[in-house]
Amino acid sequence: MDAFNLLKTDHQKVAELFDQLESSNGKAKLRVFEQIKTELELHTHIEETIFYPALEKPKQTHELVLEAYEEHDVVKQLLEELSTAKSADEEWEAQAKVLRENVEHHVEEEENELFKKTRAALSEEEIETLGEQMENEKKRMQGTRGSKSSAKKSGGAKKSASKTKSASTAAKRARTSKKGPSKSGSKSSASKRSRSSKKSASKKR
Ligand SMILES: [Fe+2]
Repeated sequence: MDAFNLLKTDHQKVAELFDQLESSNGKAKLRVFEQIKTELELHTHIEETIFYPALEKPKQTHELVLEAYEEHDVVKQLLEELSTAKSADEEWEAQAKVLRENVEHHVEEEENELFKKTRAALSEEEIETLGEQMENEKKRMQGTRGSKSSAKKSGGAKKSASKTKSASTAAKRARTSKKGPSKSGSKSSASKRSRSSKKSASKKR
């Protein structure tokens, strides 16, 4: 399956779940929301570790993909906030609506702009390969979710999980690098903290 078909199928599935969310009530609503959360987490994961990194370098897709990472962050934050609720009250409903709007905007931009520019930046073969990689990673993740304990026992799954983690860290690094020296700033405040704690420890003696 090529990358576009795979991602479009995901988008369609999430759109249907959002329709279900609107027509359900009470606990059922929260259950549908959990399904949306699982789907979106899986979808953003395969995009951020496989699809987007391949689009960071080409100049046709560079800017759009950086924007896409940021949009994912907003979606993840909303998912996190929504998932803490014990019931779907009015405020929750409003926030869920904002989530849907954000997802729809993101999907539209992907399908109408990013995919078109990806076709200009990558070969058909590369697009096909990315699709296969995302499909495999999705299956691997679904397997891990289904049997967490067996994944822990298996060394192979553990190895590939750490590989994925480093890929997403690399993606994050690429994004934060343009934001400047925040990393070194936090490092120095951390070392200040450790210095002052040493000081107070020596005072006690
Ligand atoms: Fe996306």
